[in-house]
Order: sequence, then C-alpha cells, then structure tokens
Amino acid sequence: MQEQVTLDRRLKRVVDFIPAGSILADIGSDHAYVPCYLVQQGIIDRAIAGEVNQGPMEAAKAQVELIGASDKIDVRLGDGLAVLNEDEATCISICGMGGSLIRSILENGRDKLGAVERLVLQPNVDGQQVREWLLVSGFTLVTETIVEENDKIYEILVGERGTETRYSADEAERTWQLMFGPELLETRPEPFKLKWGREADKLDYVLGQMAAGAQTEALVRKQEEFKTLRDKMREVSQ
Ligand SMILES: C[S@@+](CC[C@H](N)C(=O)[O-])C[C@H]1O[C@@H](n2cnc3c(N)ncnc32)[C@H](O)[C@@H]1O
Repeated sequence: MQEQVTLDRRLKRVVDFIPAGSILADIGSDHAYVPCYLVQQGIIDRAIAGEVNQGPMEAAKAQVELIGASDKIDVRLGDGLAVLNEDEATCISICGMGGSLIRSILENGRDKLGAVERLVLQPNVDGQQVREWLLVSGFTLVTETIVEENDKIYEILVGERGTETRYSADEAERTWQLMFGPELLETRPEPFKLKWGREADKLDYVLGQMAAGAQTEALVRKQEEFKTLRDKMREVSQ
C-alpha cells in the first residue's frame, strides 16, 4: 500500500491556497511534500519540484517514487525558476526560506511567470521583502495568514495578478502595512501578536545595549528610529 503523505500545520495551510487543477512548481522542494500531498489527494495532477541542492533534490525524488507519482511530479535540479520552461507553471509555491531569497528567486525568474495565476509564498523572515516585490511586480496580495507551529511563527502570502488596492496612499501608513501585512494588521490574529511582541522584546534588548555605549549623534538617531519601531510593534501586539 502507498504511504500517505502527511503535512505539518505550516504546509497544511500552504496547500489550502493551491488551486485545484494547478500545474504547480514547488521551488525549494526538499522532500517534495507539497506536490506529493496534492497529487496523492487528487487536488492536482501535474507538478514540478525544483531544488538547487543535490541532497534535498534526491530526497524529493525518493519521496515521489515512494508514492508512485514519478509520472506526475518532475523533480528538477536547478536554481529557482530556472528549472521551469516558459509558461509551464500556473501556480508557484516557495516556502521555508527568507523573504529576500524568495524575492530574488521571483525577480530572477520573471520570464517564467507568464502563465502563473497564483503565487503561494511562505517566508520564514522578512515578509516585507515579499510584499514589496508583489506590489512592484503586478501582483496583488489577495490574502495573507499566519500560523504558529512548535513555537515558531510563519506568514503565508498569496499573490495573484492584478492591481493592488490594499495599501494606503499615505506613505507612512503603507510602510507599516508592508512590514506587518495589510490584512494581518487589521485582523491581528494571536500568532501575529505573539510574533510582533517577540520582535519588540528583541529591539528592547538591542536598545539596552545601545544605551550602554558612547552616545554619538548617529547612535542617538538610530535609537530614536528603533524606539519608534519598537513602540509600533508593541502597539500592534496588544
Ligand atoms: C528550509 S527548506 C524548505 C523546504 C520546503 N519548501 C518546506 O517549506 O518545508 C529550503 C529549501 O530551499 C532550497 N533552496 C534554497 N535556495 C534555493 C534556490 N535558489 N532554488 C531552489 N531551491 C533553493 C534549499 O536547498 C532547501 O532544500
């Protein structure tokens, strides 16, 4: 009997956003859990699992073979979207990396986005980088969510082609929306409050260290900047 692929809470939320019938490219697909789960559940019929590193690529291949899906899931070795042909994928998932790496994968692979209708992106840190890229790249942030698992907190951002309307025309407000997420800032679910409370604590620590140093003009200015940031983080974490 074929082994059933199960997903952790983070990836379970990710797959909820993959449209049925997509041709999915899962980039950075160590073990190929996302495409394997979706194919096994009959939600999609075709996927590409891309990996830049040999070890995770082999783990993905082994997993695909284990569930008998080698005819449906292509495992490819390569950097980012370079593994794709033009107009091949209709949905791309990139999970479990930093926001700046996700941003650079998307930016470097712009020529592979022709047929893409949806992006499902799960940055471990620096979600702001991903939101900024979506905003300047003709994608609208259709929804975003945040999950806690094993004391870690993960944002999941879903982009689709379209004109962005969620962000404020006011530059200062828009900066906060890009950092915290326009939807999350409004709904403020528990994991969101926890995340930003922790970030505020980290900044408190840094500010304590800074206060102990010689107070140059530049350092004083930086402390003011950090205090504003810390206060905003505290405010949204209440
Ligand atoms: C932490 S793992 C995440 C695996 C899986 N996506 C998940 O969320 O559980 C990140 C994976 O991305 C791969 N990776 C990093 N940079 C990449 C790139 N430029 N192109 C493709 N894969 C990459 C790494 O080799 C690693 O296997």
